[in-house]
Amino acid sequence: MQVAVFGAGYVGLVTGAVLAELGHQVRLVEVDPEKIAAIAAGRPPIYEAGLDTLLPRVVRDGRLSITADGARAVAPADVTFIAVGTPPLANGDADLRFVRQAAEAIGAGMEPGRRRVVVNKATVPIGSANLVEVWISEAYRRRWGREPDPEWFAVASNPEFLREGTAVFDTLYPDRLVLGADQPWAVEMLRALYDPIIRQAFEPPPECPRPEGQGPVPVVESDRISAEMIKYAANAFLATKISFANEMAAICERVGADVVQVMAGIGLDQRIGPRFLNAGAGWGGSCFGKDLAALIFTAREYGYEPRILEATVAVNRDQRRLIVARVQEALKTVKGRRIAVWGLSFKPGTDDLRDAPALTVIRELVRLGARIAAYDPIAMTNAARQHPELEIRYAPDALSALEGAEALVIMTEWDEFRRVPLAEVRQRLAQPYVIDGRNLLDPAAAKAAGLWYRGIGR
Ligand SMILES: NC(=O)c1ccc[n+]([C@@H]2O[C@H](COP(=O)([O-])OP(=O)(O)OC[C@H]3O[C@@H](n4cnc5c(N)ncnc54)[C@H](O)[C@@H]3O)[C@@H](O)[C@H]2O)c1
Repeated sequence: MQVAVFGAGYVGLVTGAVLAELGHQVRLVEVDPEKIAAIAAGRPPIYEAGLDTLLPRVVRDGRLSITADGARAVAPADVTFIAVGTPPLANGDADLRFVRQAAEAIGAGMEPGRRRVVVNKATVPIGSANLVEVWISEAYRRRWGREPDPEWFAVASNPEFLREGTAVFDTLYPDRLVLGADQPWAVEMLRALYDPIIRQAFEPPPECPRPEGQGPVPVVESDRISAEMIKYAANAFLATKISFANEMAAICERVGADVVQVMAGIGLDQRIGPRFLNAGAGWGGSCFGKDLAALIFTAREYGYEPRILEATVAVNRDQRRLIVARVQEALKTVKGRRIAVWGLSFKPGTDDLRDAPALTVIRELVRLGARIAAYDPIAMTNAARQHPELEIRYAPDALSALEGAEALVIMTEWDEFRRVPLAEVRQRLAQPYVIDGRNLLDPAAAKAAGLWYRGIGR
């Protein structure tokens, strides 16, 4: 099929590259000239496992191209995705400015004579598909003097659940696909588009083999509003799971239990499940904070006070403060102290720093007078470029960051941190303090190495 994708970020680029790999003809539309140049040359502007070989292949084979010209991409497209950013406004509502720009470009670029589905893949407030439909129809009318025929044009909602870091894998082998549309023919077109994924009928690309036991992918067909709500409900539930673990951690600390053991103990219950129960510095990233804020905003628009969601956000905010408090507990005076931070990205496997707990903690420690040396396996370039205001000395490796530091704060659970010998850690640190914001280290091993160790909830 002919596919256009507006927005070549984490979602749009990976979706486009995977659909091209599956045999569709994909045209990306982007406004950022740097991203256009990089992608046209087959270079991913973001870090995603597997994308560095997948992208150049589909570009070279002519299955994926990128342009700033929306109309050129839309004119031949059967399916057009909107995958632009939807950042939060100060009041928590989502900023739909980029969605509107994309919708208007789509409406202006559409030509009659072929069935088209425009798919909202961006996370948009409940009901936004209606707005997208209106924006497209108005732009279309400005060009053709009439609204598009609803037999030939549909707006669908197909929310995205990929995780940054494993985005290619998640797109090829998703837990489920949600297809929300009010016209049955639009659902059929999306089923046809995703058919290789639904039936798992494609040859797995070399960089991303099919996992053992992977069967057909379940499809949830729903109305548009429900599809939009599914995305928010999923993120709200996942964030709540982590905040729940953090609340249990706070109680564990007080009663002398170990939250890691407690969560392992409850996670084996099939009704609960073991994932997203890690206590620590809390969740971050581009999605949870903004999506919870938007869902809370929506609930309040209808006069409903979403108490669980508000508590989820409040507990998470406090976890970042807790890390700083732990540093103060260890060092007492923070002014003039040298502190090492391991991990900057909001989670391992990505260089994404949006709403990263590490940055909140670093900012606060700097404000309190600390001098920070940081190390992250892949996010340091982004940190230096996106946050030139942050006073950070970037270290070439994990151990160098410790040189002369009086405390180590672990903020991202990168695997390589698990492999650093604790005796070396002790030797490099000027003082033995380790604040483990991800419960990454074994407390007994840390103590045996002569470290003063504090995790979260243990
Ligand atoms: N990142 C994730 O893990 C993730 C997961 C699920 C859903 N989402 C949702 O998907 C959407 C996109 O997220 P992302 O992380 O890919 O964002 P991103 O910021 O990485 O990418 C968005 C891209 O859209 C481009 N853009 C902006 N206006 C445009 C326009 N008018 N035409 C063409 N391109 C335009 C931007 O330049 C940018 O490259 C958001 O709504 C987000 O909530 C993200």
